[in-house]
Amino acid sequence: MNPEIPHPGALIVIEGIDGSGSTTQSDMLLQWLQRVGIPSVFTCEPSKGPIGGVLRLHLGRQVELGGPEAEALGFAADRMDHIVSEIAPALARGITVVADRYYLSSLAYQALSCDLAWLREINRFALRPDLTVFLSVPVDVGVARFSQRATRERFEEDRDELARIAGMYDTAIGLLREEGEDVQVIDGTRSPGDVHAEIVQLAVAVLQPRYPGVSISVDAHE
Ligand code: TYD
Repeated sequence: MNPEIPHPGALIVIEGIDGSGSTTQSDMLLQWLQRVGIPSVFTCEPSKGPIGGVLRLHLGRQVELGGPEAEALGFAADRMDHIVSEIAPALARGITVVADRYYLSSLAYQALSCDLAWLREINRFALRPDLTVFLSVPVDVGVARFSQRATRERFEEDRDELARIAGMYDTAIGLLREEGEDVQVIDGTRSPGDVHAEIVQLAVAVLQPRYPGVSISVDAHE
């Protein structure tokens, strides 16, 4: 195995504020991976595991966790469970994992109420992604997009709060980049097809060394 590559599969994370299009783009990326013949799987956080289930109830206001620290620990616990039970086994088998949100979400959303250094600490054992793509959209674009949805979650109510979350994303991205993590910020206001094409280009760089036998077409549309 190539010693530069810690696991045979790639962990690719798609991030952004609510309404940035991370779910649409994760889905399009997965379909492209499958078309070009790269073994791949979609996942998201909060995860579909037991702790993720509680977090979804909390986000939907059906249960209430006691305070921001419990919430942050919940997301971190869900992440470790998600990594051990799903993400790491897939990567070890050479499967590329596309994750709709990961620890960068915690460093942005939970940083509204919790200390950033502490958030980093409780996420210390989370596997580093091979690539994180941050879909940058102005807060008003995000608000306009999710306002059209039927149900609202906890962070989808307050424009000012979302603006602060966007600011925390900038800070956290700066920190991760300083540590050498590959976090790419792209313009998420363009058409889904254009955003997808740029994500494909970025993904190819991490995929090519892992799947030398697959002829990876950069044509996002096909
Ligand atoms: P989202 O991807 O928007 O879910 P949906 O499929 O319902 O659109 O994620 C749910 C919310 O969870 C989102 O507002 C961000 C929040 N979140 C955190 O606050 N911290 C985290 O660590 C994660 C992963 C998500």
